[in-house]
Amino acid sequence: MHINAGIITVSDRASKGLYDDLGGPALKQAAAAYGWKVLTQSIVPDEKREIQRAIREQIAHGCHLILTTGGTGVAARDVTPEAVRAIAHRELPGFGEAMRMESLKLTKNAILSRNLAVVVDKTLVICLPGKPSGALECLGFVAAAIPHCIEVLGEAPTSC
Ligand code: MTE
Repeated sequence: MHINAGIITVSDRASKGLYDDLGGPALKQAAAAYGWKVLTQSIVPDEKREIQRAIREQIAHGCHLILTTGGTGVAARDVTPEAVRAIAHRELPGFGEAMRMESLKLTKNAILSRNLAVVVDKTLVICLPGKPSGALECLGFVAAAIPHCIEVLGEAPTSC
């Protein structure tokens, strides 16, 4: 199925140009390899409103899938899960569970990650770690379920 994707890098330092955004380009390349069309890319600071605004803008552009990288850890500035949950219609806990379960086989620190996936309107928003290799690994653990999820989200409501 055709999937339009958006990518959001959440990082105070990358948004100020203090260092290069490596996670966004890495996710863009991965998305293309999965066969998804990347429509939009944004870099925002670790601020709830900026994160929420970027998500809404990408939804307005027609993204079925939004991948965020960064802000899922335990540092005081890490607010991505709070920002995303506040605008979510529902959470899909299996994504976070699978990412942590599989990542724990690779690094003990994965227990600190607050990765998650939610639905905003009809768009699947997946929040990945900030480290580019971690973001790609986590995406790989859940990628197989993404097309079906987006297909179901796009269906017209039925009475059942
Ligand atoms: N998951 C995978 N698969 N690989 C990783 O290297 N790094 C972890 C974790 N999840 C990692 C991972 C680390 S070190 C942290 S602190 C958390 O993700 C949160 O990352 P973030 O604060 O950069 O979003």
